[in-house]
Amino acid sequence: MPQATFHFPAGFLWGAGTAAHQVEGSNTNNNWAYWENQPNRIHNGEKAGRACDWWAGRWRDDFDRAKETHQNAHRMSVEWSRIQPTPDRWNEDALDVYREMLRGLSHRGMTPFVTLHHFSDPLWLFERGGWENAETPALFEAFVRRVVEALREFCKDWIPINEPNLYTYFGYLDRKGAFPPGKNDLGAAFRVMANLVRGHALAYRAIKSIQRDAQVGTSVHVRYFAPAHTWNPLEKMITRQVWANLNASFLDTLADGRLRFLMKSTRIAEAIGTSDFTGMNYYTGDLVSFSLFNPGELFSKRAFPKDAPLSETGFIANWPAGLFQMIKWARRYKLPVIITENGVEDPNDRLRPRYLVEHLHQVWRAINFNWPVKGYFHWSLVDNFEWERGWSQRFGLWGLDLASQARIRRPSVDLYAAICKQNAISAEIVAKYAPEVMGTMFPG
Ligand code: FCB
Repeated sequence: MPQATFHFPAGFLWGAGTAAHQVEGSNTNNNWAYWENQPNRIHNGEKAGRACDWWAGRWRDDFDRAKETHQNAHRMSVEWSRIQPTPDRWNEDALDVYREMLRGLSHRGMTPFVTLHHFSDPLWLFERGGWENAETPALFEAFVRRVVEALREFCKDWIPINEPNLYTYFGYLDRKGAFPPGKNDLGAAFRVMANLVRGHALAYRAIKSIQRDAQVGTSVHVRYFAPAHTWNPLEKMITRQVWANLNASFLDTLADGRLRFLMKSTRIAEAIGTSDFTGMNYYTGDLVSFSLFNPGELFSKRAFPKDAPLSETGFIANWPAGLFQMIKWARRYKLPVIITENGVEDPNDRLRPRYLVEHLHQVWRAINFNWPVKGYFHWSLVDNFEWERGWSQRFGLWGLDLASQARIRRPSVDLYAAICKQNAISAEIVAKYAPEVMGTMFPG
């Protein structure tokens, strides 16, 4: 048995991620509740329903599970439509529930990261055109002020907007119209992206004015793109374009104040310097080639590498080296990096153990180049409502039986617990939980 161990730095953040609409249950006042009631929008017509029943208090048991399995941090989000159910009403009871949850994390010695917007918009905002409306960034700022004032005692790490790039893509560009409002409109997509940048910048300054020692960062969806044939200049060019639009546009704007997106550009000077850490959600990547038939996606055709193992519904290819490449690329922003999401849908825990250790191994490699990765949040703590894919994808360390609300302890729970506890990946852990990758992780 090899004796090697990959150690992580002291104070490394080990956690899992969740999002309000996906776990709380009984959210009926937002754009996703609306979407769930439209025909043919969600897989099998499913709904979030009770979800993981957090609003009824089950977050307590789930936080206990996280704590008992040695996680020292948790990323969660608050639901705007609960806190501001109508434009002129603030719901203090909802804020009390979130205060209770954050106090719960603090009692368990876990560091909270709070996302202020994770895909869901209040219905009243949605009806006014959501993020297409130029007034939305200021409305978001008012909401953020209210939340941070109420919760500052228990949290100092904030993420204003989760995956602005996917929110824009799935809601305003995707031909299948995966997310509400299901538009396919380049002009609208550009306006939405610009307003999300403005909303982020306003939120950043608002939070800092309330809480001087706050850390405010991003959580951008990143995919590793590589040309299908490295010698092909056309493929290289398209890969650069796809990369610039999906991975770089939001983060670049926070660095230099210019949004370049969908062949357009606009100045948003107030965004410069409004990030204290680069949060990235990494799941997978694609090989990019040229397709004359796909002008909507910059003439790109994307495919998973042929030899990469696929997740249960074929949504994710296991490509851990891509995570290393994304961390390497993110050095350009000269900020600490946090992996704010990473995981795989896998009801039977067939691929997850391997996926988990191989991705963490890449994080460890990056840290050994002295790149400043400060934490890792696995997606997710427990199976939850996966947007337009409904309940068909199971990302949890713990499984969920929706009807009985029972949690199912997958082997990955104990794998991740061992890593969090030791702050390291040892050969022993890998041999026990993912023996199939011993030869590649410990080739000696
Ligand atoms: C990300 C979302 C998250 C979850 C995972 C699987 O794009 O941020 O809510 O759905 O994908």
